[in-house]
Amino acid sequence: MSGKAFYITTAIDYVNSVPHIGHAYEKVCADALARWKRMEGRETFFLIGNDEHSANVEKRAASLGLPPLQYCDQMEPKFVDVWKKLNISYDRFIRTSNPLHHVAVKELFARIHKNGDIFKGKYKGWYCVSCEAYKKEGDLVEGKCPTHQTSAQQVEEENYFFKLTKYRDALLDHIEKNPSFIVPKIRKNEILSVLREGLEDVSVSRSSTKWGVPLPIDPSHAVYVWFDALINYLTGIGFPDGTETFEKFWPADIHMIGKDITRFHCIMWPAMLLSAGLPLPKTIAAHGFVYVKGQKMSKTLGTVIDPAAVADKYGHDALRYFLLREIAFDKDGDFSWEKFIERYNADLANDLGNLLHRTLNMINRYQGGRVGAKNDVQAIDSALQSKLMAVAGTITPMIDNCEFHDALATIWDSIKEMNTYVEKTSPWTLSKQKATARLETVLSTIVEGLRIVAVVLKPFIPLSAEKIWDQLGIAQQTPFGAVSLDTAKQWQYVNPQTVVKTGSPIFPKIEIEIENE
Ligand code: MSP
Repeated sequence: MSGKAFYITTAIDYVNSVPHIGHAYEKVCADALARWKRMEGRETFFLIGNDEHSANVEKRAASLGLPPLQYCDQMEPKFVDVWKKLNISYDRFIRTSNPLHHVAVKELFARIHKNGDIFKGKYKGWYCVSCEAYKKEGDLVEGKCPTHQTSAQQVEEENYFFKLTKYRDALLDHIEKNPSFIVPKIRKNEILSVLREGLEDVSVSRSSTKWGVPLPIDPSHAVYVWFDALINYLTGIGFPDGTETFEKFWPADIHMIGKDITRFHCIMWPAMLLSAGLPLPKTIAAHGFVYVKGQKMSKTLGTVIDPAAVADKYGHDALRYFLLREIAFDKDGDFSWEKFIERYNADLANDLGNLLHRTLNMINRYQGGRVGAKNDVQAIDSALQSKLMAVAGTITPMIDNCEFHDALATIWDSIKEMNTYVEKTSPWTLSKQKATARLETVLSTIVEGLRIVAVVLKPFIPLSAEKIWDQLGIAQQTPFGAVSLDTAKQWQYVNPQTVVKTGSPIFPKIEIEIENE
């Protein structure tokens, strides 16, 4: 265990509409990792926020007759409310309209300019407003952006450019020498091939808009939205003035983003940092996309899933569990109500919830609500003990690699093993036989196992994990907030004579057939 600082960020979201389940996926993955690191004892800083200086945001504000800043002010609580509903444990929420961010953008720009990497030029070509990106002819399919299916615009602007090409070789070298700089591999290979094909210098200002950070060397231009947005990762930890926090947390340990924005994060951003003389982030981890029944979410088709509504209806842990367990980080995944309800009922209500509930019932019925001692340990108990004590160690590298679905599958293997153990040891028979020492050993072995499960599940489904802890009565011994990951590798943790609490099932079964979509 190390108290070393850990800095994790997500992409900042455009505020032209409210967050959907795809945005939620990213925040939930990052939250699970941040919580895991805190449990490991790392001093963690977790940054999320809103990206406000985009043309689409400006357009949306105009359509509502609002000045862009006023519109963004109204959107902030809409995002924050969703993240609170999903129990996202961020340390700071950044907005790019924040004056402190403007200072940071100007400072980084000044450093890059001082390094001789800014020049004036003319851009003539394609621009996709949804990506907020300049596009090569070859990037378009029949004139449309393949990601957004919208027509790209022809633009001709006199802009300021950043000498991105100057950093191509250094980037190639860095990526090759640092295998975990871009993960997963598929994204790394994509970036390597873009770099090998060759880069073009990139425009970093736009003269056509006033909505943004004024360009320090020519305030008739606004800083290009991506150049501005990426710098939020520095602003979030106090750049340029809050040196103490900045020194502690930079470089970031991980930028967690979606697969559609890897070029900005893996090429443009590190080149900007190299130019400004700042260290590069350690890892950029790009997840896949969440689709709804195999389709991109669409307002017109009514397939946008609102994460807050799911959380309100079934609890945020049910949604967090589904996203983390069902969707492999490095692949695209799918949300459907059928799958959601199936996972909920099978994994949460049945495997885990039912195991807890019946264990507590047996302790109440057979032992007056007290956990007993382990005075008659047999091979079957030791086998279960070894399996559970190994879980935290097994899943740590998975979590470090963002393989959350594998980590949860591993935890569920041990939960299933505990269910098998209950059937095999048959505590109800031991009770009938008045085999007290054996009965106490069996039930306290299950309690010990559930206690470990609560600890390793804490980063994924924090509220439910705490309920397990409380119902097992362990809160009298250690408050859940103070639990470290190391305790998941211990046995004999729960005091004999601990009084369990009878509570209602933590995951009541969903009885409805299938939700209307
Ligand atoms: N504002 C930029 C990011 C700037 S970061 C310096 C942006 N915003 S976004 O709102 O379009 O997307 C925010 C994040 O959500 C991105 O990482 C994006 O990949 C992710 N997702 C958006 N739709 C998604 C899905 N359907 N599924 C999973 N993630 C997706 O890009």
